[in-house]
Amino acid sequence: MRDNYNKQIVAFYELNVKQNDVDFFITQAKKCGSEILELGIGTGRIGVELAKKGYSVVGVDSSDLMLSELKKRIKQFKLKNLHIIKGDLIKINLKKQFDLIIMPFRVYQQIHYQENQIKALQNVYKHLSDKGIFIFNVFNPDFVILAGDHGKEVIDYKDKYITRTHFNWKHDKQNQIIYTKIKIYKNSKVVASHNLMVSYFFQKELKFLLESCKFKVIELRSNYNSKIFKDNQELIFICKKGV
Ligand SMILES: C[S@@+](CC[C@H](N)C(=O)[O-])C[C@H]1O[C@@H](n2cnc3c(N)ncnc32)[C@H](O)[C@@H]1O
Repeated sequence: MRDNYNKQIVAFYELNVKQNDVDFFITQAKKCGSEILELGIGTGRIGVELAKKGYSVVGVDSSDLMLSELKKRIKQFKLKNLHIIKGDLIKINLKKQFDLIIMPFRVYQQIHYQENQIKALQNVYKHLSDKGIFIFNVFNPDFVILAGDHGKEVIDYKDKYITRTHFNWKHDKQNQIIYTKIKIYKNSKVVASHNLMVSYFFQKELKFLLESCKFKVIELRSNYNSKIFKDNQELIFICKKGV
């Protein structure tokens, strides 16, 4: 599989995530059980925090660069309960089931074309225990942004240290894929950039996909820290196996 990341973007990866989701996943882990599968674990932004709390975490990722960063942290924090497996979440077969499966920070948007998206959900289903919970999030597409920002660099956010921008250079409307270049600036200088193919999904479409793969959506949130649903934020799906 092609690695979507490069050394520079991996180095700045966590500064570029504004999800406020760590406490949410720790709370879910408390509710759901001791063994957790994180698909697309990346640098371990969430998985490492769960392992530090004593949960046993299996993390799957296809990127050598992300995993090499994660390996450094496992060593740094002496985490014996975080096991990593390099592989494709669509195909991997771990031959066991988990009470909590998570795919935080838009991992599912890196799965392209409906055939693969269905296979990914079917594989999650296979690895989920009968009482297990599956949580993942995608961005909620903004029609104005989707229609209007092509060909120009748009600021996603700016803080004291970092500015992140994206520049959509191609839009495959049929397959709902944005081809985007993400740039990280530090003090007005580009310190990292990478190209990413980002699938986007609509709320009803994803609900239908999940149901067709035998999941039941038990909660849909737009924010990790509030139950009030707002239209322009994330789509956070909390699911279990349907009957
Ligand atoms: C945006 S990062 C999210 C990382 C982490 N979950 C977090 O919350 O910070 C997406 C991760 O998914 C991984 N990924 C993308 N497609 C994958 C696939 N088919 N199989 C396994 N990992 C994949 C990427 O390598 C990357 O590490």
